[in-house]
Amino acid sequence: MSTKTATMSVAIQVLLCFTLTLIQQGSCNITYIWVYNNPTIVYTTENSTMPWIRRGSGESANRRNDYIYPSGAASGYKVHTQAVLWPKARRICADEGGHLAILNSVAEANMVTEIFNKSEPIIGSDWPNYASIGFHCLFEPDVQFVTIHDQTLEKAGYNQWMSGRPLLGAGRHYGSLRISGTLDNYHTHIPLGFICELPIH
Ligand SMILES: *[C@@H]1O[C@H](CO)[C@@H](O)[C@H](O)[C@H]1NC(C)=O
Ligand SMILES: *[C@@H]1O[C@H](CO)[C@@H](O)[C@H](O)[C@H]1NC(C)=O
Ligand SMILES: *[C@@H]1O[C@H](CO)[C@@H](O)[C@H](O)[C@H]1NC(C)=O
Repeated sequence: MSTKTATMSVAIQVLLCFTLTLIQQGSCNITYIWVYNNPTIVYTTENSTMPWIRRGSGESANRRNDYIYPSGAASGYKVHTQAVLWPKARRICADEGGHLAILNSVAEANMVTEIFNKSEPIIGSDWPNYASIGFHCLFEPDVQFVTIHDQTLEKAGYNQWMSGRPLLGAGRHYGSLRISGTLDNYHTHIPLGFICELPIH
């Protein structure tokens, strides 16, 4: 980005911040950070409902204190212990600024499994040892398990199924993680606890 464009972009963001301040009648706290060598403004207004401006200074973008951030991990995770259907779980994670957890390596699977193992028990589910995560096979008749970012599990980096899985059958469309660390696919009408992932950047 040229200096001129950068300056322009900063000016626009300052203007936006003041506009938000006017609308919300909150205080406007501006900090500068550098993203990919471009100056970017991070600003917070009191009680903002917009997660991308709800950042305390000195914190990474996107952190929420109800998520667990394993050291060195690129994401935070949260086990929601109230069981719901998979589509609602997907929506709740998105509303929190992230997505249903996607396991991109054995290491990440181990990390998320450990967080699940240590979480409060799941309530409202006949299957408390399973939690919905971000994969499915919704594109019948093409039966292929893909993440919610449309990668196959192999490409995503973790495809260790529990024994006998995946079980192909009507409606077994949704992906879950068993508390012992393997994957399962389950029926659309079964509510489960679920695990959200919130990337730090
Ligand atoms: C802006 O953020 C800094 C650092 O967190 C804090 O000390 C200061 O009080 C904040 N100012 C306003 C107006 O909120
Ligand atoms: C922000 O939230 C706090 C606590 O919920 C509340 O007391 C305060 O009035 C809110 N401020 C605004 C500007 O909405
Ligand atoms: C959680 O992990 C501990 C230690 O590995 C293990 O003993 C325990 O059985 C696990 N809990 C569940 C519910 O799998």
